[in-house]
Amino acid sequence: MAEQLTTPDFDVYPTNHRINSVDLDLYGVRLVWDDGVVGRYHALWLRENSPQAETTHPVTRETTEKIIDLPADLSVVDVTIDPDGDLVVQWSHGLTGSRIHRGWLRCHTAGVEDANRFSSPAPVLWDASMQDTLPRFSGNGKPNDEVFGCWLEAVAIYGLAILEGLPALPDTVEILARRVGTVRTSNFGQFFDVQTRPNADSNAYTALNLPAHTDLATREYAPGLQMLFAIENSATGGESLLTDGFAVARHLKDNDPETYAALTSTIVEFKNIAVDTDYRWQSPLIVTDNNGDVVEVRWTDWLRAPMRQEPEVVDTFYKALRIADSLMNDKAFQIEVKLKPGELLCFDNRRILHGRNAFDPASGSRWLRGCYIEREELLSCLRILDRQRRRRGI
Ligand code: OGA
Ligand code: ZN
Repeated sequence: MAEQLTTPDFDVYPTNHRINSVDLDLYGVRLVWDDGVVGRYHALWLRENSPQAETTHPVTRETTEKIIDLPADLSVVDVTIDPDGDLVVQWSHGLTGSRIHRGWLRCHTAGVEDANRFSSPAPVLWDASMQDTLPRFSGNGKPNDEVFGCWLEAVAIYGLAILEGLPALPDTVEILARRVGTVRTSNFGQFFDVQTRPNADSNAYTALNLPAHTDLATREYAPGLQMLFAIENSATGGESLLTDGFAVARHLKDNDPETYAALTSTIVEFKNIAVDTDYRWQSPLIVTDNNGDVVEVRWTDWLRAPMRQEPEVVDTFYKALRIADSLMNDKAFQIEVKLKPGELLCFDNRRILHGRNAFDPASGSRWLRGCYIEREELLSCLRILDRQRRRRGI
């Protein structure tokens, strides 16, 4: 492999494709790769992405030349391939020349699959039959990068995974969460202790059962991920209940299109009001994107504000809600797990509904500590692990 040129980023690129021929064309450069693929590159684009210090800051690897500061008629006056097989571009203005790494160029060629692009693993939907194969990874006190990556990958695929064998200490969840990325805070604190409290400001802080729900449905964007870590869990009851909301949505779409239509189209207001705060957000319970794919479920029955619609609309919505909510809490869709001290459950809070059985505080103790993180932190982490693998040549 030729020596790696600096690229306008921090990645390493495969150099398995060679450039057979280069030419100037109307917009900039046209070249033919060794497999016959034709690549065409705009002069301003080549300049903007040139890796040398005049264009790309050597430390941040962000562009420093603004397009509007470059002459509109900037052109490539000459283009060659150097002995290492990389592209050398001569400009009509400014720099004396730019070397463009051919692996980088290949990955950024229009119409060519980018060998370096990390694609998030496709979700695999599940129901109660996953009870015995719930994704679980052994942290052995402190998980190595391999285990940590597998755990996060499982969260991306199944929407949830457990990391076990961690120290059952109050700060463990913070250490693991920060290893994933920035922790999201809320009015319940950056890290919240799920324990019974005398003046509970949420049913979560009582010993009551909690039906299947997602957290913070009252916010413009609900947290992407939630972590729940068991520090103590000797009380009778208190098992965690988990449902794949995407699987229920798929079931409804296939078997009960009317219910599905009501839940994807009726706008519902969620509210979380207290003496000093008043959080609200409006959204359907099942959110779809422009392709009609389900991207989010928002499900917290006790945080729905009174509907302000005609009774016909309310009637249709309530009927749909009754059907869907009973499926979300149906044993056929749910798995049940009692978190042992030292076990960390991470789940996608916009896909997986969570709940718990009631517990008996007189029979023992129960102390979970939780926090929220965005999905993008998990994806960033997976991309970095992917980049590290490339760097090691795996
Ligand atoms: C919560 C919650 C689950 C549990 O705090 O939002 O759902 O198992 N807790 O106590
Ligand atoms: Zn909750």
